[in-house]
Amino acid sequence: MELIQEGFEVVIVDDLSNSSLSVLDGLKKITGKTIPFIEINLQDKNQVSKLFKVHPEISGVIHFAAYKAVGESVLKPLEYYENNLGSLINVIKEIEKKENDFPFIFSSSCTVYGQADKLPIDELAPIKRAESPYGKTKQFGEEILIDASSANDFLKVISLRYFNPVGNHCSNEIGELISGAPQNLIPFITQTASGVYKKLSVFGDDYPTRDGTCVRDYIHVVDLAKAHVQALNRILNKNHSKKYEVFNLGTGKGYTVMEVIKIFEKISGEKLNYEIGPRRKGDIAAAYADTRKANDVLSWKAELTLEEALISAWSWERKNRNK
Ligand code: UD1
Repeated sequence: MELIQEGFEVVIVDDLSNSSLSVLDGLKKITGKTIPFIEINLQDKNQVSKLFKVHPEISGVIHFAAYKAVGESVLKPLEYYENNLGSLINVIKEIEKKENDFPFIFSSSCTVYGQADKLPIDELAPIKRAESPYGKTKQFGEEILIDASSANDFLKVISLRYFNPVGNHCSNEIGELISGAPQNLIPFITQTASGVYKKLSVFGDDYPTRDGTCVRDYIHVVDLAKAHVQALNRILNKNHSKKYEVFNLGTGKGYTVMEVIKIFEKISGEKLNYEIGPRRKGDIAAAYADTRKANDVLSWKAELTLEEALISAWSWERKNRNK
């Protein structure tokens, strides 16, 4: 969406394992354009090779292709390594054949920091051993890109470390499509409010935070999307200072789980049924971003609020529930 608004021509590549073709209809309604879509699995080397042969005009990649459920990754580690890292390597190998600067924007995560010693978290915070195979795929993915960009003259990489992405596009035409039980807080809140689940469990209230529940930095997906355009333009305009750069993407403000629930109740007018449950294994007490590097270097700042993200998430949930 944001790329198209900025005049880029976009090709979407997906294996539809965790997405739906209906997204293309939503994009058409918003942009008035039919966006070319290619269904392939990036784990298949031959298909990736064919993709770059058939589309030699591809001159930049934003790589989102990865499984992202922390709990599932503990149960199926090899599938996570195979998919998240195999697909990444296949794409980089094709880019290595290029003979011009080639921007590669990688979806990384604040999970690479683990429980940081210092808050807010800046990009120099040490990378700690990840708690889950999912987290490790993000750490290894970054390492692979550091080595590959150092060995190749043309591969130029920006890794974007997302904090907690939430919300949907304000048009209500595209949004998060969840198969099975939601793993993350916001969809669990909206699905509890709409009656799919009886009760939300708040995972622990004995953390060293202002009300005992965990603190996170929730960033609206539209702000997140805009940062990708800035990152791409930074490389295309040759403003990047190194072959590999990394930026935190967050708002810089942390909210506790209880604060999120209260804000949701206020914007929706619904009373949320919740109870305090035990801690979830692997959760850290608090994480929020130091956004100064992204603000100064990428000329990007999150503009949308948690209230706006929750309004969009709630209206998306009601639309889908009424279908
Ligand atoms: C996780 C990943 C992060 C990833 C994000 C989105 C880790 C440590 N974190 O973030 O990398 O970007 O998912 O995919 O790998 N909570 C409840 N009840 C619920 C659900 C959540 O209380 O039913 C709490 C959690 O304890 C947490 C907060 O809500 O404090 C946010 O949880 P969640 O949305 O799952 O995101 P993270 O675990 O922070």
